[in-house]
Amino acid sequence: MRTHTCGELDTTNLNDTVKICGWVSIRRDHGGLIFVDLRDRYGMTQVVFDPGNAEIGKAAHDLAQKLRNEFVIECVGTVRNRPEGMTNAKMPTGEIEVLCRELKILSEARTPPFSILDEEVSELLRLKYRYLDLRRPSLQKNFIVRHHTVQAIRQVLNRHDFLEVETPILYKSTPEGARDFIVPSRLNPGQFYALPQSPQTLKQLLMVAGFDRYYQVARCFRDEDLRAERQPEFSQIDIEASFINEEVLFPIMEEMMVEVWQLIHQKKISTPFPRMTYHEAMTRYGSDKPDTRFGLELRDLSSLFAKSTFQVFQKALASGPHGQAGSIRAIKVDREAARFSRKDLDDLAKVASDYGAKGLLWIKVQEDGTLQSPAAKFFSETEVQGLRNLLTLAPGDLVLVVADARDKVVCNSLGSVRLQLAASLKLLPPLGEGPMNFHWIVGFPLLEFDERDGRYYAAHHPFTSPKEEHKEWLLQQRDLHKIEAAAYDLVLNGTEIGGGSLRIYDSRLQDAMFQSLGISPEDAKEKFGFFVEALQYGTPPHGGIAIGLDRLTAILCGVPAIRDVMAFPKTQRGQCLMSGSPSTVTPEQLAELGISVTKRSTV
Ligand code: AMO
Ligand code: AMP
Repeated sequence: MRTHTCGELDTTNLNDTVKICGWVSIRRDHGGLIFVDLRDRYGMTQVVFDPGNAEIGKAAHDLAQKLRNEFVIECVGTVRNRPEGMTNAKMPTGEIEVLCRELKILSEARTPPFSILDEEVSELLRLKYRYLDLRRPSLQKNFIVRHHTVQAIRQVLNRHDFLEVETPILYKSTPEGARDFIVPSRLNPGQFYALPQSPQTLKQLLMVAGFDRYYQVARCFRDEDLRAERQPEFSQIDIEASFINEEVLFPIMEEMMVEVWQLIHQKKISTPFPRMTYHEAMTRYGSDKPDTRFGLELRDLSSLFAKSTFQVFQKALASGPHGQAGSIRAIKVDREAARFSRKDLDDLAKVASDYGAKGLLWIKVQEDGTLQSPAAKFFSETEVQGLRNLLTLAPGDLVLVVADARDKVVCNSLGSVRLQLAASLKLLPPLGEGPMNFHWIVGFPLLEFDERDGRYYAAHHPFTSPKEEHKEWLLQQRDLHKIEAAAYDLVLNGTEIGGGSLRIYDSRLQDAMFQSLGISPEDAKEKFGFFVEALQYGTPPHGGIAIGLDRLTAILCGVPAIRDVMAFPKTQRGQCLMSGSPSTVTPEQLAELGISVTKRSTV
């Protein structure tokens, strides 16, 4: 239907007769002349209807007067230079225009609920009319990036003998730590499928099956509370391989990132990526996904205040439960104390409390060097001097302290205070710009104790292997909190873009893992019996990783939320505003499934 797209005509096409199709982006009526910006996926071309030009039929000009925004049209015309002063160097097609002599309206459009190029439209309206929202060139660009990213990734994996295999969506619960979405089975009344939170068990079974190297652009489903970087269904580049360890896997992943950045941004990423232990990440950055683009690192004040008379500090250092030690840690903000009002400090304390901190103590260094703080009266002269030396305090410095009997709470809450500080002090480059700090985080704990539930949870998932040297501990069920996992995360600028591990390939060790998680042998059999049985038929040592494709693409596109790189995303309440799902079903459908809805409660 067309000779060219709306993005490709330039001065090399002068005087050519062309036929282009697209959407009317804007129509400008200049008395006689009518201008239309014609838009398609490839760009925008200016089309002119000139009644004074003998060459064109009057019909085209008359019809052009009927054009409204978002009409789909077909134009036949001649490419010509734009008049002097009318060129637009920013557009690839900015030097030419098409003088139209035949116009056909292919499709009329109702007045859209918002103007397509308007970036200031409410999110809710946009999601309701997502197909119109998706017409925005800025959004379409994201999907082009996503497409190229997946292509580059496939190329790297194909080169390394990975086999692309699809796995089922109607499946069984796979434990990644979220709630399952379940689907009733009509053919098996009272029974349910679970949508996979990831293809974890399936890809491991492919290793048992001898596939050696597998990948899939896999859809994952997790019923959890949504945030900007989370959606209930999302995509992973899911990878598994046999007879490998980190030294084989990491370079392949690094090669992948190098190629993606080369292709999308023509930017060189240097490898190998540095490795940082979980412990270092937590104690320096207060996060297992550290953003290392700025300082404000955490400092340990525990020994300095070991003999403190301040009750908050005393309580914190009395040791915590289950091998968790208490601690006192701090962040120092150089010279900026004056910028922080009481309200700012209260707001920061609120940030800290979201991660369980019971308070956020502030200390300001005054012009004369004395310390101002709600707890200053409890500080001994030695402690004050120690603090000055340890943190090299200068007038105008601000110190923020958290103390707690659970070191993890201390680190995490200061970690979030740190990110908040970076935002308010504007320490970060604009999205999509600046350094790309990749890190492998290694040496995670295998198990984490949950005080509320009084039991251990798998820090990653229950198929993650302990490190070789800690396998015996798991088998003997001792020192559980000290066991380190052969797990790793790939972190980029404070975002976890991937995670994986070497797996347990010995059914005895797998049983021990379930035992440590308080999963009874019956439960384990019911939930994962098929899987543990499979491990008994000759399982190769194997491991893998999953890269969060949406998060990776969002970073590549420099957008804040993964919904900007998903064609039809859901809202915070898990709704698709466009189709109105989830929605009720007919009583007949429910009856057929043997399901009755007892009450509608809202979360
Ligand atoms: P994990 O649960 O760490 O590991 O997930 C891997 C990566 O997937 C991305 N991700 C998400 N992206 C968008 N929305 C979500 N709700 C969401 N949840 C996770 C993250 C994360 O790093 N089966 C294991 C992998 C393995 O062990 O091989 C797994 O799913 O970027
Ligand atoms: P209080 O004695 O409760 O008035 O607390 C004195 C100061 O200590 C206040 O600024 C609190 O925010 C702070 N604070 C209380 N608990 C903690 C804690 N666990 N860690 C750090 N600071 C705290």
